[in-house]
Amino acid sequence: MSHWVFGYGSLIYKVDFPFLERVEAHIVGWERRFWQGSHDHRGTPEAPGRVVTLVAATGKRCDGVAYCITEAVFDHLDHREKNGYQRVDTAMTLADERQVTATVYIADPGNHAFLGPEPLPELARHIAASHGPSGSNREYLLTLAASLRELGVHDQHVFDLETLLLSDS
Ligand code: SIN
Repeated sequence: MSHWVFGYGSLIYKVDFPFLERVEAHIVGWERRFWQGSHDHRGTPEAPGRVVTLVAATGKRCDGVAYCITEAVFDHLDHREKNGYQRVDTAMTLADERQVTATVYIADPGNHAFLGPEPLPELARHIAASHGPSGSNREYLLTLAASLRELGVHDQHVFDLETLLLSDS
């Protein structure tokens, strides 16, 4: 039995799991935001980093990458996304127009690690200063921005943060 998973953050570029198919895709009704705290990858419990989650936004489209995986791969993904993310099922459109149901990992505002909005310059400073077991928070943001650009995806929130981060360094 295979399943579709939608990746919109590190799942776009850090593919440390097997998959049957990888294809560009989008979902509707969500926006990418650096509003989730990271205790285990790009920060620590004492000094959390900031990573992306999805925030409900009527009519907005979020572009990313879809993976077709076997059920067994969820063990790995659940562990990787364990710091506040929950599996949510949603409709997804693949680049070739196929309509499928996908699982997406979303960290909602009720989770213990949620940080929420801040003015962008503060978000950028926070990201510039954070490090965790998976590396610097700066690398997470810059790699995500580069990966989105490679896919031809424009994400103002991510690109504005990238500009601020680079102008500060
Ligand atoms: C995702 O990439 O889909 C989830 C968030 C993350 O791991 O960065």
